[in-house]
Amino acid sequence: MESKIKDLNKKLAEAYLGGGEKRIEKQHANKKLTARERVLYLLDEGSFEEIGALVTHRTKDFGMDKQQFYGDGVVTGYGTVSGRLIYVFAQDFTVFGGSLSETHAEKICKVMDLAVKVGAPIIGLNDSGGARIQEGVRSLGGYADIFYRNVQASGVIPQLSAIMGPCAGGAVYSPAMTDFTLMVQDTSYMFVTGPNVVKTVTNENVTSEELGGASAHSTKSGVAHITSTNDVECLEDIKKLLSYLPQNNTEKAKDLPFQLEDEIREELNQIIPDNANKPYDMHSVISGIIDEDSFYEIHKDYAENIIVGFARLGGKSIGIVANQPMFLAGVLDVNSAKKAARFVRFCDAFNIPLLVLEDVPGFLPGTDQEWNGIIVHGAKLLYAFSEATVPRVTVITRKAYGGAYDVMNSKHIGADMNYAWPSAEIAVMGAKGAAEIIFKKEIDAAVDKEAKLKEKEAEYAELFANPYSAAERGFIDEVILPETTRRKLIKAFAMLEDKQVDKPKRKHGNIPL
Ligand code: COA
Repeated sequence: MESKIKDLNKKLAEAYLGGGEKRIEKQHANKKLTARERVLYLLDEGSFEEIGALVTHRTKDFGMDKQQFYGDGVVTGYGTVSGRLIYVFAQDFTVFGGSLSETHAEKICKVMDLAVKVGAPIIGLNDSGGARIQEGVRSLGGYADIFYRNVQASGVIPQLSAIMGPCAGGAVYSPAMTDFTLMVQDTSYMFVTGPNVVKTVTNENVTSEELGGASAHSTKSGVAHITSTNDVECLEDIKKLLSYLPQNNTEKAKDLPFQLEDEIREELNQIIPDNANKPYDMHSVISGIIDEDSFYEIHKDYAENIIVGFARLGGKSIGIVANQPMFLAGVLDVNSAKKAARFVRFCDAFNIPLLVLEDVPGFLPGTDQEWNGIIVHGAKLLYAFSEATVPRVTVITRKAYGGAYDVMNSKHIGADMNYAWPSAEIAVMGAKGAAEIIFKKEIDAAVDKEAKLKEKEAEYAELFANPYSAAERGFIDEVILPETTRRKLIKAFAMLEDKQVDKPKRKHGNIPL
């Protein structure tokens, strides 16, 4: 027995070394942790249980039968994060560049299947040179097995992907189908085709970093939801993100202890400028409402005219969607509508109540927007809110103009409680634009056109640039003092806690894509 135990320990020690000391040194020199170090950092101390440490590939071509590494380039298993069960796979770049073989894919599928059966989140730490070139189509089949599982698990368990090295070609589509993609600055990149192919096909000269680095994907494409400065920060970001989420779609995120006291926040009375055309930072409204320092922003540097993120309100996990007057006056456009729609659907799938903070002057006009399909992309957000059955509350802080008023979680599309501050302006459009259209003849006929326009603008503003017309009809449930907003929202979400909506049976809706 002794020799058998020795033999097992030798094999495991080999497995723990992945591709060997030299390649581990190279990994560290490239400012990256190894797969095993990442897993151990992510999970609670002593909680990691590995599955498949002794798996090896089955390829014989190209002398591969003589190159065997236990684990075959991916560390898989389960453990806990803050005491909660989590499944994890981490690609090991020290073994064949973390490339995906048939067996490597089988290991990933095994933990994905367990995660779905048990109902716990799955975290993928990606660091891979793509398909195992020596295996050809067997490797591609492996990818497809993973993609298929990503889709089956979508909306059932949270799926998080961290990109901590290369992720190229078909490999990008697994992260793309998960709920959140995190990227590490400078050491990670994602693209469908790399710089060499780009040069050949389009004659563009571009580096990997420019083409698919964290900065490109967090500001231009929106592929990355969160950017972290290094591996450790990325793993901390995963833990933070998980803290707002439930284990699966049948559960709610755990409440933190909270006792309702006098929740008046006077600073909220000072945020809206007297001049309705002046911007202000919606982040100050958010922090004025939520539990201290609890906002975790998603897509921070992408489509900044809308803010989305998780927060705690009275100890409960909520999702926030807020127009941001600091960028493009907070208009809705193609990117902001897509960003918000995806976030709303995630929150709805995982029972996270939604708070909407609204200050929206309308949709962004122009050929660029129209030709890029603002109609269909704007419809995504309208659709996402309309189908969401989680508790939904809106606070209109200032502008709620035109079709954008309908889209931003209005009463008409199923919001449960709609509040407005006294500064709210709920109308078809701004007073000036409205006066120019409906009083055109009168203004044209006036001797002093400017004075007439001003007079008519004031007339329209008096009638509509306020929340009262909407409140009279019940489109707004209550006009509230800003300082009471936090207290009102805590009570409203508590009141909505047991909300239930039965929907007619159907295969699935047809969201405009
Ligand atoms: N299949 C098999 N082995 C691979 C591989 C792949 N797709 N990608 C990398 N490797 C191996 C390398 O042969 C090397 O092996 P070694 O340690 O025995 O020398 C090791 O992984 C590290 O690769 P290396 O090229 O030295 O690392 P790098 O950091 O300089 O470059 C990449 C990383 C990913 C840019 C580069 O390896 C690459 O271009 N790989 C191929 C990408 C690709 O075309 N994939 C298939 C299509 S999806």
